[in-house]
Amino acid sequence: MSLSLLATTPISSSLSSKTPLHQTPKRVPTTSLRANNTITCEQKQNVGPSQSIDRRNVLLGLGGLYGATATIGNQANAESGGPIQPPDLSKCHLASDDETGEQVNCCPPYSTAEVHEFKLPQGPLRHRKAAHLLTPEEIEKYNAAVAKMKQLDPKDPWHFMQQATIHCTYCNGAFDQKDHEGKLLQVHGSWLFLPWHRMYLHFWERILGTLIDDPTFAIPYWNWDNPNAMTMPGFYTDKSSYPFIYNDNRNHDHYKALMDLGYKLGDPNPRPDQYPEVKLNNLRKVYNMYKETLGKPRLFMGAPITAGETTKEGAGALENMHNLPHQWVGPVEKPYHDMGNFYTAARDTIFFGHHANIDRMWEIYSIMRGHKLEFESKDWLDSSFLFYDENRKVVKVKISDVLNIENLGYTYTSEVNAWRDVRKRYKKERLGRKRSAKEHVQLLPVSEFGTEPRPLKEPIRILVQRPKTSRSKQEKEDDLEVLVIDDIEYEHGQHSSFDVFISKPIEGLAGPDYGEHAGHFNRLPHFHIKKEHHSERKAQLELGITNLLDDIDAETSDNLVVTLVPKQGKVTIGGVFIELQESDL
Ligand code: C2O
Repeated sequence: MSLSLLATTPISSSLSSKTPLHQTPKRVPTTSLRANNTITCEQKQNVGPSQSIDRRNVLLGLGGLYGATATIGNQANAESGGPIQPPDLSKCHLASDDETGEQVNCCPPYSTAEVHEFKLPQGPLRHRKAAHLLTPEEIEKYNAAVAKMKQLDPKDPWHFMQQATIHCTYCNGAFDQKDHEGKLLQVHGSWLFLPWHRMYLHFWERILGTLIDDPTFAIPYWNWDNPNAMTMPGFYTDKSSYPFIYNDNRNHDHYKALMDLGYKLGDPNPRPDQYPEVKLNNLRKVYNMYKETLGKPRLFMGAPITAGETTKEGAGALENMHNLPHQWVGPVEKPYHDMGNFYTAARDTIFFGHHANIDRMWEIYSIMRGHKLEFESKDWLDSSFLFYDENRKVVKVKISDVLNIENLGYTYTSEVNAWRDVRKRYKKERLGRKRSAKEHVQLLPVSEFGTEPRPLKEPIRILVQRPKTSRSKQEKEDDLEVLVIDDIEYEHGQHSSFDVFISKPIEGLAGPDYGEHAGHFNRLPHFHIKKEHHSERKAQLELGITNLLDDIDAETSDNLVVTLVPKQGKVTIGGVFIELQESDL
C-alpha cells in the first residue's frame, strides 16, 4: 500500500496500486463522491463463496507463539453459521440497561407488521455536509425537521423516541437471534457495526425529509477528524436558537472544549496552549487507523460474526475510536445517559452527527481501497435487519443493499482529510526529538506475558516475540503485522478502556517511556450477547503495527516491548501475541 494512496482526498477515486490478476468482486465502481445520478440501481455483487482466511494456517507456519487454539477468533461452532437473520418481531422481550441494572422496554411498536423487501430509493442525491459548515438556514431546517419528529404521537414509529429506541433494540438485547434462542441480536463489536448504523441513519434521514416534505434533506456530520471541528459543533449546544436539536444530558464542561481522542472520564480539558499537540495526536490516531488497516478490513470494520455464534467480540479500529466521542459527549457521572450508554445514545441528535461521520469515514476507507469489497462472505453480505421506513412499511435490508451510498441516495461533501499528511509533521515534531547523548536513560527489565490471565490494574509491560524480522517491502505489503490482545474480559455496565504502546527493546530491556501509541480498547456500557449476564463472550483487540514499526525503526528487532496502560474499568487480559495476516489488496 503506497503512501500516495493515503494522500487522496475523499472526492477522488483512487485505485489500488496493485492490479489484481483476476477480477476481484468489487462494489459498484463509484467514480466520485459527488453527484452522479447515472449510476444504475442494479447492484451487481457477483459474489463468490465464503473466503474467510484461515488464520490458523497463517499462525501455524510461524511456530505457535501464544498457543494456536487461542488465536482463532471466529471459527463457527457446529450448529451455528450463516448470515444473521432479521428478528421475529412477535418475539420481542425486555432488554436490559446493565449500567443501572434496569429491565427496559425497547420493543418496536409494529410486532405484527408485514415485512417487505427493501428497494433502493429514487429521487435526488442528498448531500450530507459538515455540521460546523452549515448555514443558519440549513441548521434551521434541521431543527424544524427534528421538531416535527418530536411532535408526533409518541407511539408513532417515526417519533423521535421510537427512533432512538431502535438503538436499544439492537444493542441491549430486545430480540434473540432468529432460531438461536438465548443468543441476543447485537450489532456492535463485529463486522455488523458499520452497515447496521448506515441503515439506521438512512431511515432516520429519509423520515425527517418526508416530515418536512424535502427530498433533498440530508443530515449533517460532525467532522471531528478535522482540527476545525474537534469541538461540538455550535448548534448542538445552542439551546435557545435550536431547542429541538439541543439535548441537555451531556457533559456541559465539554461544550466549548477541544476533544482529545485519548480522553478518559474526568480528565481536565486541554488548555489552549496544548491545542496544537492534542490536534496533532488526534490526527495521527486517525491517520494510523487507516494506514494500518487498509489491507485487512476486519481490523477496521470488526471481526466476523455469523448466526448463533458466540465467539470473541472483535470491534474494529473505527468502532473502538467511535466510542470515545460517545463517552466525551455523555455525562461524566452515572448514569451515563444519553450518549455515554448504548441504551440511550440515540436520544441525542449529536449521535446522528457522530455516526454520519463514522459512516463517512467508512466511505473514505472504501475509496482508499478502490471500492474493493471488504468481505466477500455471504455471511456478511446477506446478514439482514428490519427497519420501519419513510413509507411506513417494515422493510428487510441486507448488508449488500447498503454498500454503495450513492445507490442509497446520498453522498458526503468533500472536505479535505486533515490527517492525510500528518505523518511527516508527526515524525518531525515528535519522533524527531532525539535524546541528548548525556541524558541518563534508565532501562528496565521486561519479561514475557506468561500463560495466565492478568488483571490490568497498573501498566503491564511485556516483551513480545515477532513472527518474522527484517521483512522486505513486498513482505510487508503481502502480510500485515498484527498485535493481538486476546481474551479481554471487562465489566459490561461500565466504561472500560486501556491504551497500547509499543517500543523497541534496548538490548532486551525496556526504555524509560512507553513508546509509541499503537491503539486503544474502549467500551461503553453496555454490550449484551447472551441472556445470562455473566457469560458474555470475551473480546479481542487486533492492531496493525506494520507502519508503526517503520516509524520507530524496529523492523530488525526480534521482540517488541508492549505496554498496556489501564484507563477505565476492571479489565483482565488473557494473552498478547503478534501474528501475520494476509493483506487482501
Ligand atoms: Cu450503535 Cu455509536 O453506537
